[in-house]
This record gives sequence, C-alpha cells and structure tokens, in this order.
Amino acid sequence: MASEKQFKSIKGTKDLLPEEAARMRSAGATIHNVMNCWGYGEIRTPVFEQTELFARSVGEESDIVSKQMYTFSDQSGTSLTLKPELTAPVMRAYIEHDMGRGGASTKLYYLDTLFRQERPQKGRLRQFHQFGAEAIGSPHSEQDAEIVALVYTILTELGIEDMTLHINSIGSDDSRNAFRQALVEFLAPYKKDLSETSQRRLETNPLRILDSKSEDEQELLQGAPAILDYLDDEDLAHYEDVKHFLERMNIPYTENKMMVRGLDYYTRTTFEITSPHVGAQDALCGGGRYDNLIEDLGGKRTPAVGFAAGIERILLALGEKTQSTDESKNLLYVAATTHEAREQALTVAMILRAQGNTVHFDALRRSLKAQLRDANRLNASHCIIIGEDEMKSKSAQVKSLSSGEQESVPIDSLAALFMPQQ
Ligand code: HAM
Repeated sequence: MASEKQFKSIKGTKDLLPEEAARMRSAGATIHNVMNCWGYGEIRTPVFEQTELFARSVGEESDIVSKQMYTFSDQSGTSLTLKPELTAPVMRAYIEHDMGRGGASTKLYYLDTLFRQERPQKGRLRQFHQFGAEAIGSPHSEQDAEIVALVYTILTELGIEDMTLHINSIGSDDSRNAFRQALVEFLAPYKKDLSETSQRRLETNPLRILDSKSEDEQELLQGAPAILDYLDDEDLAHYEDVKHFLERMNIPYTENKMMVRGLDYYTRTTFEITSPHVGAQDALCGGGRYDNLIEDLGGKRTPAVGFAAGIERILLALGEKTQSTDESKNLLYVAATTHEAREQALTVAMILRAQGNTVHFDALRRSLKAQLRDANRLNASHCIIIGEDEMKSKSAQVKSLSSGEQESVPIDSLAALFMPQQ
C-alpha cells in the first residue's frame, strides 16, 4: 500500500541537483588547482570528532559550541560532534601524525561538508561546504599576508567582484588581556542597558560584545577603547607588516577595529571578506592567526594562521556568473530504433565516452521523433541515429541539431569525427 507520508529534506539542508552540483564541482576544480599552485596539500578528516575537541578550541562560550553543534552519544557513550569547523580537526590531525617533524612549515587545505544548527536563512545552512587553508609553523607576518592573498586569489579566480577585505589585530595574550580589562571597565557602568547575552559575555568573553548586532550597543561601543591602542610594540609591528605586504601584493583592505570573530582561538591578525551580493549573511570568508591553539590541544607550541570560506555563499554572490567547466566537450545523443541497433548504439556511446565526450543514450525504447526531441531538450550538438538501414550498411546518420543537416558516416569513422577539443 502506498504510504501517505512524503519525506522532505531536513530544515537547513539542501539537495544539490545536477546543475547546482556542476557549479559546485566547477568551483571545486578551481580551488584544488589554485591550492596546488600555492603549494598547499589536501587533508581530509573524519565527519565526526570527540565533542571536547571543539569545546576546547572554538570555546565553550562561542555560538558554535554553546548552541550550534550536532552532538550525539555513540553506543559506548562517547560524546561525538559532527564537525562544525575544520581548524580544530586539522590541528588534531597535525598533532596526531606529528606533521611538524623536521621543522618545516606545513601547509594544508580542505574542501569539506560542515554542520551547524543555526537558524536557516539565505546563505546560512545547517549543512554547508567550506574550503580553507591552514599554514602551520610560521609566526611571521608574511605568512598571514600569504594566507589572505591565497583566499583573495581563489575568490578572484572564481569570479567574485566587489569584495571587501576587513582586517584587524586582536594582539597577543598580554595586550588582549589589558584591552579586555579596559573594555570591561568601560562597559560595567552600562551593564543594565546591555542585552542578556552581552551581560553574560561581560563576565565570560567581553570581546564578543564588540560584534553585537544591536544598534544601541554599537552606538555605546563607539566610545569604547580600541584594541589597536592596546597592542604592544611587537603586535603592532606584526600588524603593520601584514598591511604592508598586502599593499605590495595590491590587495585592497579596510581596517575594522570592531572585528573580533566568533571563535576563541584567534591571536593577532583576524580578517573577513564580505560581499554586498549575499544579504545579511555577508561573510564569504573568515580567518586569522591562532598561535596558542596547537599547544592548547596538547601539541608543541606552534604558531599558525588560516582561513575558511563558505562555498554556498560564494555561489550566491556569483549568481548566474558561474558556469560548469564540463561544457568544453561534445554533447551527443545516440538514438536507436531497433533491438539490434540498440546494441550498436550502446557500443558506439561507450567508444565516444571513452574519448571524453558526453553521450546520452535513450533506454525508454521511444520513437525516433521522441528521441530527437529529447536530444534537443538536453542541448546535444548532434544526434547519432542508428536504425535498420544503418545496421545493414554499418553506418550511422549524424544529424546536426543546430543546422538540421544530416550525413551518413561509417560506424568506424564516428570516433574520429567526435574527437573532443583539448
Ligand atoms: P567561520 O567564520 O565560522 O570560520 O566560517 C567561515 C565561513 O564559512 C563563513 O565566512 C561563511 O562563509 C561560511 N559559513 C559559516 N557558517 C555557515 C552556515 N551556517 N551556512 C553557510 N556558510 C557558512 C571558521 O570556520 C574558521 N575555522 C576559519 C579559520 C580557518 N580560521 C583559521 N583557520
């Protein structure tokens, strides 16, 4: 008996139908290519990790850990979490496989599926894709600049225009502690005017109040101390150098002293790239330096810097501009009208596919007219028709669907006729 129930995808998740999947695959090809050119090696980590890994790195008080994780217990009672971000898993892997041995810097990249239980809206999903890179081992400003230049280059190659790069420095531990204290002293007299979340953050993570979405709080913060005034000489020199390198590479940026980012592991440089074309969720990419994280996760103290960018948001920003890279080859349709001809058609299709063409084959045993209509619907350039007469003469009719012209071609010559362009 047919069931009444219609299954639907889970809220905040999305089916990628062939057209959109092709756009994503095409973006992926560009990402893999640029990452390779820049000397970054791909890393793939498991879908789930111990929950504590994220609590210890991203931070108990962060939105991600406090409200967005998909956490469950497995049969043995271990608490596991579907990965909501990749910096922590990649650092876990870096430590576990002793990837830093030998002392050279380690440059890794990823393209992966992530999970965050956020309120779904345009550009914000519960299952989404990120690509990102982590450069591990260098404390120096040129590494920060290279990481920014890397994502800037990929976004440009993908076709993103009018992006804004926001950068800031939140200093090393001492400067940040001094700033935190000054910020708490500034906000304390206004505590009762703050939202419940900000009141809690005043105790637990006051820096996060800086990126409050409340207009009243933003107005109040206009008079707050600025983190840049609390940077020590080394932090300041590092920050100035990052900006200098970016200028030398012709990468435009704006300084944004309110930007602290929502994850706890950052030190010194933080940055985001936004686009005006994606609505309220305008960050295409976020990243920064995190010099304490590897040590906090039990590894040897090792500085690192990285970024991650949301692929769905990038595709949104690109709109109609993305096309798939699959379009350079011939798109063909093989039509057959008899049982014997279908055998021939299957073989011909295999030979043409083996040399890189896209070949559709009709398995519905429809009339020739219906098959030709189908070939037009699929935008095939040619229909290769095999019927009783063609079987006898070991040939096929090759019909151009743009001009309507048709010619008889020996079966053995089809492969040469449809050599894809290199
Ligand atoms: P994040 O800012 O949490 O940083 O995420 C980076 C990017 O992922 C965002 O700018 C956005 O484009 C995309 N993104 C985040 N959440 C969603 C969502 N719910 N739906 C669609 N896209 C989303 C990180 O994840 C850090 N691990 C980045 C990093 C790497 N820092 C250092 N290394």
